[in-house]
Amino acid sequence: MPCSLPRIMASPSALPGLGANAKPIGTAVLPAFRNRDIATALKIRVIEWARSNGVVTLWTASGSPPMIRINEKPGFQRTATEVRLVRRLVA
Ligand SMILES: CC(C)(COP(=O)(O)OP(=O)(O)OC[C@H]1O[C@@H](n2cnc3c(N)ncnc32)[C@H](O)[C@@H]1OP(=O)(O)O)[C@@H](O)C(=O)NCCC(=O)NCCS
Repeated sequence: MPCSLPRIMASPSALPGLGANAKPIGTAVLPAFRNRDIATALKIRVIEWARSNGVVTLWTASGSPPMIRINEKPGFQRTATEVRLVRRLVA
């Protein structure tokens, strides 16, 4: 299989069922199969699956330009920007 289907993560308070808000995580396509709209198709499949399972809002976050494009194509909208902070613990 050239790809992994994004999984759906829902907060425990949203259970039973998936509840109103859920987050698809972990999209990946093997390098030899990239740029053929596979990840886009997977994302659309997740949206359809979530809608038919009672999810009202999907949310996601990414620093990957291709992944941001893949999310925006089927309608995800930018809401906020996160600043990531790192503290190195070794010299
Ligand atoms: C990110 C990933 C899943 C994309 O899979 P894919 O099947 O190649 O994606 P698609 O072909 O459906 O779509 C790629 C889109 O990103 C665009 N893109 C590619 N590189 C880009 C870049 N540097 N900046 C902006 N957009 C870019 C492509 O043009 C395409 O958009 P388009 O259809 O409008 O032309 C794949 O590269 C991957 O597995 N990467 C490693 C794992 C990873 O980083 N996952 C994301 C974090 S969870």
